[in-house]
Amino acid sequence: MSWDFQTIIEPFRIKSVEAIPILSRTEREVALEAAAHNLFKLPAAAVTIDLLTDSGTGAMSSAQWAALMTGDESYAGSNSYFALQKVVERLTGFTDVFPCHQGRAAERILSRTVIEPGQIILNNTHFDTTRANFEAVGAEAVDLPVPPGGDFAGNMDLDALDAALTTDAGRAARRVAMVMVTITNNAVGGQPVSMANLRAVRQRCDDFGVPLYLDAARFAENAWFIKQREPGFGDVALEDIVRQMFAVADGFTMSAKKDGIVNIGGLLAVRDPEWHQAMKNELILTEGFPTYGGLAGRDLEALSVGLLEALDEDYLHYRTRSIAYFSERLIEVGVPVIMPPGGHAVYIDAKKMLPHIPPEQFPGVALINALYIEGGVRAVELGSLMFPGSPRELVRMAMPRRVYTQAHVDYVIEVAGRVAKRAAALPGYEIVKAPAALRHFSAVLAPHREI
Ligand code: F0G
Repeated sequence: MSWDFQTIIEPFRIKSVEAIPILSRTEREVALEAAAHNLFKLPAAAVTIDLLTDSGTGAMSSAQWAALMTGDESYAGSNSYFALQKVVERLTGFTDVFPCHQGRAAERILSRTVIEPGQIILNNTHFDTTRANFEAVGAEAVDLPVPPGGDFAGNMDLDALDAALTTDAGRAARRVAMVMVTITNNAVGGQPVSMANLRAVRQRCDDFGVPLYLDAARFAENAWFIKQREPGFGDVALEDIVRQMFAVADGFTMSAKKDGIVNIGGLLAVRDPEWHQAMKNELILTEGFPTYGGLAGRDLEALSVGLLEALDEDYLHYRTRSIAYFSERLIEVGVPVIMPPGGHAVYIDAKKMLPHIPPEQFPGVALINALYIEGGVRAVELGSLMFPGSPRELVRMAMPRRVYTQAHVDYVIEVAGRVAKRAAALPGYEIVKAPAALRHFSAVLAPHREI
């Protein structure tokens, strides 16, 4: 299609609609109070636009819904498995793949088979569940991100990687179990990793004899950014770029709830036959027989279709353009957004927007609660509440795939603009009650009152 129009259009039309709840301001105030001022405790029925996550929240296409009906529910040797395996091989070059119920199941199996207590995993930045799974088996998860900014702000810091691998090689007992690269790098804003960086990491892994894994949750968005931004890739077919990305890896985990555009699912693959056998044993123990993993045959069918639809260039153009537009317009209405935007979300700097609220009163929470009261928009805090001691106070608005229209985006911009106008009057929050771990999910909060 021709992309030289100002207006961003969804490259799809709507066949089935789902009403969204539109509440009055008073109803929202009551709902927030009942949820102890914590948006994680809010029923979805009280949310108008839900930007909590892009994970498992995408809309399946008519082709995916049709594929569901062809699901083969055989316990062993399901047709749907072989169809998925073919798609995965076409895209990644990996000849065998394990289905899992979601990304963290793949991470759990990986950490239980390949990692030993005391070992180190080097990552551009671990996603929370990836880190937690490695730490759960007594390993150390180390992040090596590059400084923010630039076209490939998701890259791994190669100097830091050199230093870590050289130190490790000098030890009597080698401790680095693997290098992992997360594409795109969710924890730093969904920023992409360049092909040059992936290949440089591969070279070091070869030099030091360390395996390289990908966390490939947003592989399609990463490939799209490479095609758009990296010299030499503009004319390379997107599927070729994907194959080249996976070619550097000895194995990968994937939450299929993102670029697989399914509501549940994950993948795990490895080249080494010994690890393959060990993972298969663990998979059977906790997920299921290897030809269905933690999924139904129909889920595998929907995933086979979704993995390919995520690589549609009209879709990726629209998605990244829509997120860039969202970010640019937010800045225009006085909302400080981290630029350049990544592939799946917009990140607001709540510290900058609410300088009168100190970190101990959670500026990110103040902002997300104000966005909810103003327009029923649900975003997520990535600051001192979720990560105690965090140097940053961010708010993430993640875009579900193919769910909201440009009119919804304009609505959220208007809501955020209104909040920006009364930013100086917003209260901070305090914790009334919270568990020690993962407190953001269940904390009871209250607006901070001066004594
Ligand atoms: N890796 C990355 C990079 C992720 O973003 C996620 C999930 C996972 C692994 C875990 O996958 O949820 O299928 O078990 N990210 C979601 C988010 C939850 O909101 O960013 P999962």
